[in-house]
Amino acid sequence: MKPLILKIDPLDIDQGAIRKAADVINNRGLVAFPTETVYGLGANALDSRAVAGIFEAKKRPLDDPLIVHIFGREDLEKLVKTVPREVEKLIDRFWPGALTIILPRSSIVPDIVTGGIDTVAVRMPSGRIARKLIEMSGVPIAAPSANLFGRPSPTMAEHVVKDLGRSVDLVLDGGETEIGVESTVIEFSGKKIVVLRPGGVSGEELRAFSSETEVLSENEVSRRSPGKYPRHYSPRGEVKIAGLGEGQREKLISMAREEASSGKKVGILAAAENEDRLEDIPYKVLGSAKDPKACASRLFRALREFDSESFDVIIAEAIPEEGLGLAVMNRLRKAAGSS
Ligand code: TXA
Ligand code: MG
Repeated sequence: MKPLILKIDPLDIDQGAIRKAADVINNRGLVAFPTETVYGLGANALDSRAVAGIFEAKKRPLDDPLIVHIFGREDLEKLVKTVPREVEKLIDRFWPGALTIILPRSSIVPDIVTGGIDTVAVRMPSGRIARKLIEMSGVPIAAPSANLFGRPSPTMAEHVVKDLGRSVDLVLDGGETEIGVESTVIEFSGKKIVVLRPGGVSGEELRAFSSETEVLSENEVSRRSPGKYPRHYSPRGEVKIAGLGEGQREKLISMAREEASSGKKVGILAAAENEDRLEDIPYKVLGSAKDPKACASRLFRALREFDSESFDVIIAEAIPEEGLGLAVMNRLRKAAGSS
């Protein structure tokens, strides 16, 4: 069964539709809504019972903490103990936007939001529908990505409906999201910024902002951050990555042939540069390897398309880890279960 789905033009927002969604939030319900990164599954962050519904709908383990989405700068003050000066500067530069900041939480944040730990993840999204929804609800909105736990994040309303069906009360359909990968999650260690999850704000942007930015490796991240699971963002098909370098096209083809020889349905997730050069092997184009932004915006949709066409194996072409390329390769490695 389908939830109530309301189509909204982000450039000409129907206030009545947002009002309905805000009413759902204020009545302890769940609303899926687009942000600039991916669709979120939202509930009133200050209401434990409402937030419990998120975990149930997603089948998400309770120790994986949620991001709280805010409308204005003043909302941050209520959710956290203090806002250090370094954080102020970051906020001025990157909010509203795809940056999630982890800070010591205040007592109004319910335990269920953070899995009981003493920090809370906060983000002020820039997506216009998201902003309007938080504003009209009048409460901060806890929202993980609106997929079933472990699946690729949704970049379209239909992905949400496919994964969550009736367990979400209302879906705001604002079309395809712009960035396509989730926000960058950071915390502070002294004055250093530690990236726990690469995402919509690139490492280069963070480094340009502060020469002291340190980017920890994924291995270090998995030790530090709660709620990190080895396989994530995964389609049903098995993902294998063909590394960068000389002969990448030949590598893709030979990997695909080998998998296909055991009778599996195999497809290639290819950089645009190799389009039409993959012999008779079915493929989907991610984007130009020189355009990581385009690749990020296509990634999750492409993985889901392979699933709906019942591919058993997806051979993914690596792209350079520059700009959003880092987030793309991070998600592909997680999808492959290799980090
Ligand atoms: O772009 C996004 O961030 C989307 C949209 C909807 O805003 N949200 C999203 O949420 O991706 P979610 O729950 O799928 O991912 C949040 C990540 C998880 O890996 C979680 O473990 C981490 O943030 N996280 C949340 N609170 C944390 C905390 N207090 N300490 C460390 N990691 C935290
Ligand atoms: Mg998620």
